[in-house]
Amino acid sequence: MAFANSGNGMNSTGQGHNSASFDEAAKPRSMAAYLREQRVVPGGSMRASAWFKPHPPYAARGEGCWLIDLDDNRILDCLNNFFSLIHGHAFPPVLEAVRKELEKGTAFGVPTESEILLAETIAERNPRLEQTRFANSGTEAVLHAIKGARALTGRHRIAKFEGCYHGAYDWVEVSLDPSPENWDDALGNPASVPYNTGTPASVLAETVILPFGDPERCAEILRREGPTLAAIIVDPHPSRPGTIAISPVLVDLLNQACRRDGIMLIVDEIVSFRLAVAGATKMYGLEPDLVVLGKVIGGGLPIGAVSGPTERMAVYNHTEGKPKVALAGTFSANPLSMSAGIASLQHFDEAAVQRLNALGDDLRYKTSARFAAAGVQAFVSGVGSLFRLHVGKSSVVDYRSSSATKEQAVVLRNIHRGMLERDILLTPFCSGALSVPMTANEIDLLADSLADITIEEMNASPLKVR
Ligand SMILES: Cc1ncc(COP(=O)(O)O)c(C=O)c1O
Repeated sequence: MAFANSGNGMNSTGQGHNSASFDEAAKPRSMAAYLREQRVVPGGSMRASAWFKPHPPYAARGEGCWLIDLDDNRILDCLNNFFSLIHGHAFPPVLEAVRKELEKGTAFGVPTESEILLAETIAERNPRLEQTRFANSGTEAVLHAIKGARALTGRHRIAKFEGCYHGAYDWVEVSLDPSPENWDDALGNPASVPYNTGTPASVLAETVILPFGDPERCAEILRREGPTLAAIIVDPHPSRPGTIAISPVLVDLLNQACRRDGIMLIVDEIVSFRLAVAGATKMYGLEPDLVVLGKVIGGGLPIGAVSGPTERMAVYNHTEGKPKVALAGTFSANPLSMSAGIASLQHFDEAAVQRLNALGDDLRYKTSARFAAAGVQAFVSGVGSLFRLHVGKSSVVDYRSSSATKEQAVVLRNIHRGMLERDILLTPFCSGALSVPMTANEIDLLADSLADITIEEMNASPLKVR
């Protein structure tokens, strides 16, 4: 597909707008911003995982599910600041809550009532999450949860699933993106593969890798390694291993292995908390010792949190002398993030969750029907409001089966660009998240565009099943 002006030039209300194209000439202001930023920021953008060539559009502002770029294009935003903006952009109750809080000051070196309210809101949604401590990002929450697990068990090693992303802590970055050349060890188990250049060998030795789609192999590995592990960290709906749900067999295995060997089960709900009022932990029957939260609980402001039963959370208690683990920071529980999170969760109630999840089902249903009718091998995976397009496959169970071949990667790249030409923003992996302001109109636009472009690309590619 040409990287040129072939968009429909219409926004959701059917009115024409400046340009639907993503050719550079149609985005002179974004291009100028990119060239300028390159001089002072390595790579010319802070949004590394959402970067693509020649450069992403630069945002000027947002309205609900629409992002308006510097060149005044209205773009349907399925990136939602990395799935954190459950109510889309500039949600009035969040703006009002933040404005009110802002008048009082931005941050204090003593507690505020806002942190009590957000911790209470989380506990009301899921009674297992009795206590919470706040950080400023999911990465921080994950590293504090792992430190907590180490202090609770007196062990150092952790286990994580191949291909799963949990932020930028060294241990959880292991085997984030292994390839067929290095993903097996000499015994045929998933290898511990460094992600960053310079990862210490000790980090690799302290990180056991599990295959998300093979519970039997997981059971084998855990029988061997279990007694040495401080924690197993799992995302019940991981994006890189396919944007698929954890299987009931794996849920049982993790619950049992953790109980048997005294391992702390850390559930990463930083993305999946949006799937149900109480989060995906409860939905899938996981019995976590600690849960890490982020994204939607901050209403669009920076946030991370570790939550869990009081007995486990005592590891962070600083009132009885030095805490076993110090979980704090200059801007932790800052009242602006707290108030944005409270307003956001208050409006993301059962009815809103159900409605949004049903829109995700519609998207999957509509695209499947179109792919089947066109005879192309492609499908949209996901649960609720999370989705991801796969081409040249009919199912995925883990990181390996969902990894794109070179040909599939080319097709996905063209589809991503084709969507942008229609003013629809997905991640460069062709995944996305729906937001509450989306209606059936936006889902139709999204499903039709995704189906049209995928069918066109697949028909033009050797991947087409004839
Ligand atoms: C599942 C998961 N865990 C952890 C993180 C890290 O969160 P943050 O970017 O807030 O550090 C992310 C971020 O995308 C994530 O998707």
